[in-house]
Amino acid sequence: MGRLVVVSNRVPAAQGRLQSAGGLAVALRAALKEGSCLWFGWSGRQVAGHDGYDPEVSLDEVGNVTYATIDLTHAEYDGFYQKYSNGILWPLCHYRAGLMNYDRKDQKIYQDVNALFARKLLPLLQPGDRIWIHDYHLFPLGQALRDLGVTAPIGFFLHIPFPPWSLMRALPHADGLLRTMQAYDVIGVQTEDDARNMNDGFSIVGVEAKARVFPIGIDPENFAKQAEEGLTHPDVKKLKESLSGKPFIIGVDRLDYSKGLLARFKGYETFLARYPEHRGKVDYLQVAPVSRGNVPEYRALRRDLDEAAGRINGTYGTYDWTPIRYLTHPVPRALLASFYRLADVALVTPLRDGMNLVAKEYVAAQDKADPGVLILSHFAGAAPEMESALMVNPHDADEIADALHKALTMPAGERRARWDLLEPDVWRVTAVTWAYNFITALSEARPA
Ligand code: ADP
Ligand code: F6P
Repeated sequence: MGRLVVVSNRVPAAQGRLQSAGGLAVALRAALKEGSCLWFGWSGRQVAGHDGYDPEVSLDEVGNVTYATIDLTHAEYDGFYQKYSNGILWPLCHYRAGLMNYDRKDQKIYQDVNALFARKLLPLLQPGDRIWIHDYHLFPLGQALRDLGVTAPIGFFLHIPFPPWSLMRALPHADGLLRTMQAYDVIGVQTEDDARNMNDGFSIVGVEAKARVFPIGIDPENFAKQAEEGLTHPDVKKLKESLSGKPFIIGVDRLDYSKGLLARFKGYETFLARYPEHRGKVDYLQVAPVSRGNVPEYRALRRDLDEAAGRINGTYGTYDWTPIRYLTHPVPRALLASFYRLADVALVTPLRDGMNLVAKEYVAAQDKADPGVLILSHFAGAAPEMESALMVNPHDADEIADALHKALTMPAGERRARWDLLEPDVWRVTAVTWAYNFITALSEARPA
């Protein structure tokens, strides 16, 4: 069997091998445990650059994976990552066309960086390689590789939602973008909705390509183990002591408008207003590490969340109780797993999400004798697989408030019954099965 060549913008090794807050790196790292693998992407560094600047590829071997990364210039980082990927494609794919800041010159930089990735990857390729490209930063990379003569099997997986064509066409040259996807032998998306939307788009613009569903998962065994083992960690003990036996609600998300954090805070505020019996008797920890902090919409969201948390704590807090504990920095994954285990309720209420691994991690981390309750948005990609959670429309603060009350007063029998229905799928659809199914489809579509 030849090598697997993974290409993504974000590469975990580029972050000094700290945990990455982001589903792509977390799931892929869990999936690539065996076989020889090259993982190519951005180093996470920006450099000054100049006309004709040509980045060097840095190689770093960790176990079975060789990481190959390149730096981007400030201009590339700005146009490719901040503006086109995260200021245009991200909002559009999350059904928020109104937040899109389109500028034709960023599209050119996006294309150029994709061509740069192709040029830098080409000399690293070997006969027998299968290439697997990830996410919206790199839609046209397959075509750029084909233009350089690459004949290897190339697959593409989109980790985020794909909207209906009626929305997608708000992107100038969206048809051209879809056309480049004919370069792929296999195209994978997270949900049936995403596949339907993308395939409608393909047929409207006359592209012969077909998206298929490959739902992503976690490494449940490892996560459950971490959750249990971490209980003896001094920081986890400290958190437990600080709760003084009060029930505990947790939220864990990148600080991103797609995660519905502001609506969630409003839901919690409504809960405290409408169910005063819980005031002072419950704790809520929201971990929301800053993400894409230089994109204007993300900066604005952070200000809004700071204000909302301050308002809620100021209004409902007392000298010995803080309604929201709100952190904007990451927490080590081993601790996070045990935090989930301690939590009686998880609030996972995105306005739109590709899959949402946090929902699956929370289920995997529970103690089966006494599991907590997952409150889940209808608009998470995980929703169709996890309907035994307490499902909510995150736009309705009263629905979140009612769900919180219901979760906190739910009898143990119902908690167990719901968890018993959620758990098998978390173990059945994992990061490993996701990668295996995709790679098998790729090998069948075009043998290397
Ligand atoms: P996204 O890919 O949009 O960030 P997901 O929920 O699919 O959303 O994946 C997020 C991943 O990042 C999860 O594995 C989660 O545990 C991890 N993560 C999120 N927030 C933090 C944090 N504060 N500290 C550490 N890991 C985090
Ligand atoms: O999982 C979706 C995703 O957009 C990944 O592509 C990305 O790596 C992750 O979220 C975190 O975002 P970023 O790489 O911009 O920090």
